[in-house]
Amino acid sequence: MKQWLQCIVCGRKYDELEIRYTCDCGGLLSVERDAINDRNAFDDRLTSRAAIDRSGVWRFREWVLNVDKAITHPEGSTRLYERNGLLFKHEGENPTGSFKDRGMTVAVTQAVRVKATAIACASTGNTSASLAAYAAQAGLRALVFVPAGKVASGKLAQTLAYGATALSIRGDFDAAMRLVREACDRLGIYLVNSINPFRIEGQKTIIWELLQDLRWEAPDWIVVPAGNLGNTSAFGKALREAHANGWIDRMPRLASIQAEGANPFYRSWQDSFATRHRVSAETIATAIRIGDPVSHDRAVAAIRETNGVVEQVTDAEIMAAKREIDRLGIGCEPASAATLAGVKKLRAAGLMKDGERIVCVLTGNILKDPEANYIAENVREIEPAIEAVERAVNG
Ligand code: F0G
Repeated sequence: MKQWLQCIVCGRKYDELEIRYTCDCGGLLSVERDAINDRNAFDDRLTSRAAIDRSGVWRFREWVLNVDKAITHPEGSTRLYERNGLLFKHEGENPTGSFKDRGMTVAVTQAVRVKATAIACASTGNTSASLAAYAAQAGLRALVFVPAGKVASGKLAQTLAYGATALSIRGDFDAAMRLVREACDRLGIYLVNSINPFRIEGQKTIIWELLQDLRWEAPDWIVVPAGNLGNTSAFGKALREAHANGWIDRMPRLASIQAEGANPFYRSWQDSFATRHRVSAETIATAIRIGDPVSHDRAVAAIRETNGVVEQVTDAEIMAAKREIDRLGIGCEPASAATLAGVKKLRAAGLMKDGERIVCVLTGNILKDPEANYIAENVREIEPAIEAVERAVNG
């Protein structure tokens, strides 16, 4: 076996081509392999012109999915910005404007391998846009379950334009998630939410590419917004594998940041993960408006293994941080700004210290949520006359 599916609870193994997302015992699955690699091949590919090497996902293919042919845009190879002593890895620079493309290229490649004809997800908007784009490329039917009225307009527009069918669910993301799982089981549709372990494999490369950007010198902290907990899980697995392979010699700490109104993981963290909490979610950051995250168990392991922390921030703190990131000329959607808001809080609490190297992962592009960007006082409507321009500029 090149690679296999393995239960994170009981350790049972399944063939990599079996279509399943959980073990018979109910545990989540992960993709495992028994290879050991040095990192030189990954660095050598940085100068290659081949599409598969130019992909910031498939550049790491031995540790993502060992296949001959991938459905790739290519994706990844996003920028790392250094501003005001902080680093920002901008995953909004992916082909459809969010980090989801890294997981989707792998999940859709796997969908083709298992001969799926239709793929589906529940989504707060970014996964659906990514799914729609990759389904279009692969020639698969695309079905997305979205919470009615709670998806940012840029994301919904993209999803429809790429050709997906949207089921607008009268309920929240968590209801859409339950429904899509049932629908995929009943209708034989391939599910590409992050419960699908192949999504996690792709999203690991955010971390590996970041480490490569830093010449494999681990930072002190990696900060990520947390909703359905796919990224937190993927980051933990990426760091575990990087460390086990000797690509890095120490573990960075993960900081998972939730919106206060959508904070089930934060609540669980507060009681040392003794209980799994579920909440009815509400936040201005619609991307992370999630009350019952599917990757909870994987994310708990990620926080524990990295000596990580979970923090919560208010909507006001999120929007203030977004304005800051926007005014740096970088820009991001609201959920992504939870990272900077979290850093401020963790610094104030003394957990993050001066001089520590901190990387914020910005998950979505500024154009995703146009409504969140409109600053009315920056607009002056005037008559088409030079005097009116003068008054506006001077007054
Ligand atoms: N940031 C953005 C911009 C997102 O779109 C999401 C999740 C997250 C952060 C949270 O990541 O779920 O891995 O903890 N968006 C999903 C979607 C739920 O449907 O697009 P997570």
